[in-house]
Amino acid sequence: MNKTEKPKMMDYARHMLVCVGPRCTEEGEAQELFETLGEKFKAAGIDKGELRVKRTRTHCFATCKSGPIISIQPDGIWYYNVTEANLDRIINEHLVGGQPVEDLIYHRQGGTCATN
Ligand code: FES
Repeated sequence: MNKTEKPKMMDYARHMLVCVGPRCTEEGEAQELFETLGEKFKAAGIDKGELRVKRTRTHCFATCKSGPIISIQPDGIWYYNVTEANLDRIINEHLVGGQPVEDLIYHRQGGTCATN
């Protein structure tokens, strides 16, 4: 008989959700972006420690326009048009610096970010 094992998760400061669904980007840009995150997080020093960011792919946020689309939780911030250059801004300004990138935000929802 199988024992149900409780999953484990490392601590993290923020969780980045990346939509890799077929409607907000059509050419696989979001998946390509997701695949760069490991190196980018490491270079920015947010792959471990107090600012560690967990990353997860999702398949639709039901806001299927102008992707790649990402969400940063628990800050309750949703970004659109996350090109590689815009991703670098989000990493440096928001995830490292703590200041959301206002011109790329399309939605805010509650959360604990001091700038909400
Ligand atoms: S497919 Fe990405 S938001 Fe719907």
